[in-house]
Amino acid sequence: MSGIRTLDGVDVAGKRVLVRGDLNVPVQDGRVTDTTRIDRLAPTVRELAGKKAKVVLLSHFGRPKGRDPKESLEQLVPTISKQLGLKVAFASDCVGPEAETAVAALKDGEVLLLENLRFHMGEEKNEPDFVAGLAKLGDLYVDDAFSAAHRAHASIAGITEKLPAYAGRGMEAELKALDKALGNPAHPVAALVGGAKISTKLDLLSNLVGKVDLLVLGGGMANTFLAARGVKMGKSLVEAEMLDQARAIEATAKQKGCTILLPVDALVAEKFGPGHAETISVDAIPDDRMMLDIGPASVDAVVAKLKTCKTIVWNGPMGAFEIQPFDTGTVAVAKAVASLTKDGTLVSIGGGGDTVAALGAAGVENDFTYISTAGGAFLEWMEGKVLPGVVPLMQ
Ligand code: 3PG
Ligand code: MG
Repeated sequence: MSGIRTLDGVDVAGKRVLVRGDLNVPVQDGRVTDTTRIDRLAPTVRELAGKKAKVVLLSHFGRPKGRDPKESLEQLVPTISKQLGLKVAFASDCVGPEAETAVAALKDGEVLLLENLRFHMGEEKNEPDFVAGLAKLGDLYVDDAFSAAHRAHASIAGITEKLPAYAGRGMEAELKALDKALGNPAHPVAALVGGAKISTKLDLLSNLVGKVDLLVLGGGMANTFLAARGVKMGKSLVEAEMLDQARAIEATAKQKGCTILLPVDALVAEKFGPGHAETISVDAIPDDRMMLDIGPASVDAVVAKLKTCKTIVWNGPMGAFEIQPFDTGTVAVAKAVASLTKDGTLVSIGGGGDTVAALGAAGVENDFTYISTAGGAFLEWMEGKVLPGVVPLMQ
């Protein structure tokens, strides 16, 4: 890919380095329930501290409207310190005298976390005064928060106009993985897209049909495509107002040489919930049943096709995976992708909110080539959008 400015060869010793992380981690009853985002930030922080930089960590947390103690980053300090294996100081503001004093007290190789950026309205509004307040605290800026790269906020966009900006190691790994998936991938490339609705993924589908060789659809959105082909879907979730759009996407796919693969069989039930489910052909869905997962023949068809592919990018589950047995299709395809990846025949990249949970539930989170922790940023990237947090890091 065209170059990103990495930390290679950058002299950071004795410098104040502002590191934008994404510490927007899930917390329940004061406990961090998933440390993945902290863990992905750790190599950058350890490297900088090891090279005797003064490391100043910046992040947002939640979506507070002004200062809100419930959304203070202070509660994360013990977990961050533990996962980094480093002592982490804290300042109860991210700009102004409090932050300035804390930064000035930092010695080479020490780490300081500043309070939630979103306690100031200037962050989301990318206000010049707030940008200047942040820029004052550092000599260099490192962005290691791909999952926030779709936000043109002060600590992501504005700051790069004030300080020399570099990609952190997590950002670097993410961009390299994404480039292998859709930037400069080995063909044939498959995209596997699931989730409930087409309406939320129209831009994504339109972008993908021009880029990939095979588009596998699952989840509720496959119902709408089936309905658009004239298949009777019973009580299944179908977006009636999206049928024309589905047909238009099919037409574009045909024109661009992209094969769309839809389910041939289904797990159906009377309602969405635990209980009796049966497997039938998609042509035989009774009026009082709804499709809640792809069936075994569909799984076989997908896996057979994936064996001929070199790259797969996955977003969205194949069925209503939160409730058994409607996780069966997602788990079976995920395991097949994991095994082809291990065999070395497939480069596999997954991402997007539900996807990470679904792949985690399938137990394959360590067997894909790369799983992104990004939700919205991953989707916008799959839509082919230019991300305001990535552009300033390009050479
Ligand atoms: C995320 O969790 O998706 C990122 O941290 C961005 O958060 P936001 O959607 O509140 O901007
Ligand atoms: Mg989000």
